[in-house]
Amino acid sequence: MKLCVIPGDGIGPEVVGAALRVLRELVADVETIPAEAGWGTFQATGNALPAATLAAAQAADAVLFGAVGSPSHSVSGYRSPIVALRKALDLYANIRPVYRTLDPAVAGAAHSLVVVRENTEGLYSGRERLEDDGATAIAERVITRRGSARIVRKACELARSRAARRVTLVHKANVLRVSDGLFRTTALAVAAEFADVTMDEMLVDTAAMQLARSPERFDVIVTTNMFGDILSDIACIHGGGLGLASSANLGDERALFEPVHGSAPDIAGQGIANPLAAIGCVALLLEWRGLPQAAQRLRAAMAAVVHAGPRTPDLGGAATTEEVTAAVLQHLSL
Ligand code: NAI
Ligand code: MG
Repeated sequence: MKLCVIPGDGIGPEVVGAALRVLRELVADVETIPAEAGWGTFQATGNALPAATLAAAQAADAVLFGAVGSPSHSVSGYRSPIVALRKALDLYANIRPVYRTLDPAVAGAAHSLVVVRENTEGLYSGRERLEDDGATAIAERVITRRGSARIVRKACELARSRAARRVTLVHKANVLRVSDGLFRTTALAVAAEFADVTMDEMLVDTAAMQLARSPERFDVIVTTNMFGDILSDIACIHGGGLGLASSANLGDERALFEPVHGSAPDIAGQGIANPLAAIGCVALLLEWRGLPQAAQRLRAAMAAVVHAGPRTPDLGGAATTEEVTAAVLQHLSL
């Protein structure tokens, strides 16, 4: 397998290094193609996503991505490379599973849920502008029938592979009548094609509250881009938090795997980042490659480490990235 590896900024290189060690333990034929992107790359070259990186990502079977640090203020010429990569590779489905077995506070619970987030349109389409001499800012929320249909189809296919076979459609069509109206009617029509999958629907604010309080109510959640971004961060609390949240960005052919967290500048360089979110990306990669048993083995090793330790400080422990990675490797060799 040809894997393009983009470590990025901050803790990105620290956790990606850990993930690669685990991947090499599980898959013999991995050829890695290192590539650069991010804020550091922008500062060095003036381009956060060099053409060579995009070409390497396109030539590989899959991409493993760490994290990039983007400033919250606008910097001339800078665009977030991860948003650009998702668009360039047409990775329209952001799959964010939450495994409750990975929550150190939950003993033995098997329930998991998955947030399926539309990844290429919605409020993150990048169509923002100023009017009134800068006194009014407008962001356009782009929802298309094609974009809605394919993300809902992806969610229904995923639900089909799970025991509960249930999809919750999350929207705000009572207010966003036109854009979420189109998302909702398209979704309901697609769901009608899946006789073996049940679809229910929930308004996004109610869904946020229910996710915080009663995650077991959910199996697969499908929603638009920004709602999915926010809801998946809420959901990940039930799976051990950001230090354990992994995601897959899938297109019809391509895939990019990345931890949900960012570059964590507050702990970068200290060797204490939790590598499990990045290591969980390896499990998602294995599933995508049709190796579910290897993925299951890896998640069992991760759960064993979460519950028995060593744990990094985000999980209340005092262990380093290296110690946690070594513990996962040790469980894999048992
Ligand atoms: P963040 O995810 O980097 O950090 C949030 C908090 O969680 C911090 O306290 C951090 O120390 C902690 N944390 C995150 N990952 C952790 C890990 N693996 N182990 C232990 N603790 C961890 O989000 P924040 O601070 O909002 O953003 C920092 C930078 O990251 C920003 O420049 C932002 O633009 C960027 N970012 C990039 C993302 C990406 O590359 N996909 C996603 C989110 C943010
Ligand atoms: Mg996010």
